[in-house]
Amino acid sequence: MGKIMLEQDIKKILISHEEIVDAAKKLGQQLTKDYQGKNPIFVGILKGSVPFMAELIKHIDTHIELDFMLVSSYHGGTTSSGVINVIKDIDQDITGRDILFVEDIIDTGQTLKNLCNLFKERNAASVKIATLLDKPEGRVVEINADYTCFTIPNEFVVGYGLDYNENYRNIPYIGILKEEVYTK
Ligand code: PRP
Repeated sequence: MGKIMLEQDIKKILISHEEIVDAAKKLGQQLTKDYQGKNPIFVGILKGSVPFMAELIKHIDTHIELDFMLVSSYHGGTTSSGVINVIKDIDQDITGRDILFVEDIIDTGQTLKNLCNLFKERNAASVKIATLLDKPEGRVVEINADYTCFTIPNEFVVGYGLDYNENYRNIPYIGILKEEVYTK
């Protein structure tokens, strides 16, 4: 059987499905220890975080709550103020709660920097970040994840939640897109 249609657009597999599942399992075990008895809220940032969140929570063996936010950013605009727009907020008061943001990638850092500031203003007890991917070369503001599965080079990656023009999120691994896909 030949390659499936989507895979034809991938130049190279950067992180395999097995490696992602393995990393999610290790992170889940760590978070189970770190959040024991705290009943944290895991906040996924839509849409990219969905596959990672779905895998990660299978490996958490303590009480947690789930919530999601949808934000839009102004990346590539004329200012680098990093303002974000909250399109869908979480559904509850987080005063005194332990928050873990779950992300697919930290690039410029603006999304999470703004979200962390927002949640501190809302008086969360703690605000931490777990990310599948970290691209440190992309950073324009100072922010670091508390938990990172993979550090990646400055390449355009898709799959496992990450998109190009809203496509490729459903590929089960992290891949580098062929240049011809985004130059055609
Ligand atoms: C991506 C990713 C993060 C953000 C990271 O989301 O899921 O939320 O960008 O980038 P930053 O560190 O430069 O702020 P995007 O806005 O592309 O939305 P999506 O999750 O729906 O793809």
